[in-house]
Amino acid sequence: MEYDVKDLALSGEGKARIEWAGLEMKVLEIIRRRFIEEKPLEGLKIGACLHVTTETANLMITLKAGGAEGFLCASNPLSTQDDVAASLVKDYGIPVFAIHGEDNDTYYRHIASVLAGKPQITMDDGADLVSAVHTDYKEQASEIIAGTEETTTGVIRLKSMEANGVLLYPVIAVNNADTKHLFDNRYGTGQSTLDGILRATNLLLAGKVLVVFGYGWCGRGVASRARGMGSNVVVVEVDPLRALEAVMDGFRVMTSFEAARQGDIFVTTTGDASVLRAEHFKVMKDRAVMCNAGHFDVEIDIPALEKMATSRDTVRKHVECFIMEDARRLYLLGEGRLVNLAAAEGHPASVMDMSFANQALNAEYAFSHAGELEKRVYDVPGDIDREIARLKLETMGIEIDSLTPEQEKYLSSWTIGT
Ligand code: ADE
Repeated sequence: MEYDVKDLALSGEGKARIEWAGLEMKVLEIIRRRFIEEKPLEGLKIGACLHVTTETANLMITLKAGGAEGFLCASNPLSTQDDVAASLVKDYGIPVFAIHGEDNDTYYRHIASVLAGKPQITMDDGADLVSAVHTDYKEQASEIIAGTEETTTGVIRLKSMEANGVLLYPVIAVNNADTKHLFDNRYGTGQSTLDGILRATNLLLAGKVLVVFGYGWCGRGVASRARGMGSNVVVVEVDPLRALEAVMDGFRVMTSFEAARQGDIFVTTTGDASVLRAEHFKVMKDRAVMCNAGHFDVEIDIPALEKMATSRDTVRKHVECFIMEDARRLYLLGEGRLVNLAAAEGHPASVMDMSFANQALNAEYAFSHAGELEKRVYDVPGDIDREIARLKLETMGIEIDSLTPEQEKYLSSWTIGT
């Protein structure tokens, strides 16, 4: 078996951590048990480009249990957990191509290694695998049944490919499932972003002005969790409706230029480029902290920061200090990459349980509908979404009511009024 990981000797720790995460992934466990019985993925090759974490390991093990042959590379050079990569190879026989801190060339070589496995399903977090197929490996597209996409940024790219008529195979937008974005993006990103900031800096959040850029599901999660920790939260948002929601959710909303003067900690979650840039760096307070929770490392204009700085030094693990000409110190966490994965361990397993249950069930759905889907971006089928919510509640030991026949009748009637 071919693979490329840092050190197989790390596998022991990786296996113990994979099992620990698995204890919180009960929905995936239920799916895995069924997969072992039914083998619905028998003969299917799956190429996955995901963050190489304990949670992803549990997904890969589940896909293998269903009969699939999986290949895994990283969807971010800083999120790979080398012990997990080692254990997947050594203990589970799953080929992994990922090394924490790999350079750009290695990152893309590893994507090529996954594509060399000739996957029939691509499973992406950020659409890098899909992009590679659509640029350098076009000849493979006709063999691909479908793709699945984990994140908002990836879905935006895919929709643009669809709109431009260049999408070569169907893709299911796992991110759009309610059981994905309402939980993973909000509670997962919310908690793990603060986890990353705290592990990197050990700052007290209480009393700090924390500025969140973007009030999508990730931004909402970060804002609400930070408020819970006692921060004075400011939201910066370009969409009037979302900005209004942030106001009525009780946050201070202002322009980025005003926020830049006031903030102690800045978190970008927009999915767009140069959200924090020279004009903001110029007016930030001494010792302002910046980090990013969006998929790509483009939200903070690091080249501009570098240009304005007289020096750049690592002052603590995951913390770089840029000294400005006027002696102000600006701190950047995790090289401007996803701070929750670069400085912490990403979203907790309990929330990835639902995201990856979606990945597993949508891979099964795509395989069982091979040839029937068009070259479009599809939402997750509603019955898969509802089933995951039902299973999650069940595994949490929570029962809910169902409608009485009388209530059902009332809802379907239009003649009953006052
Ligand atoms: N994305 C965010 N957190 C993650 C995790 N723990 N595992 C895989 N992908 C993630």
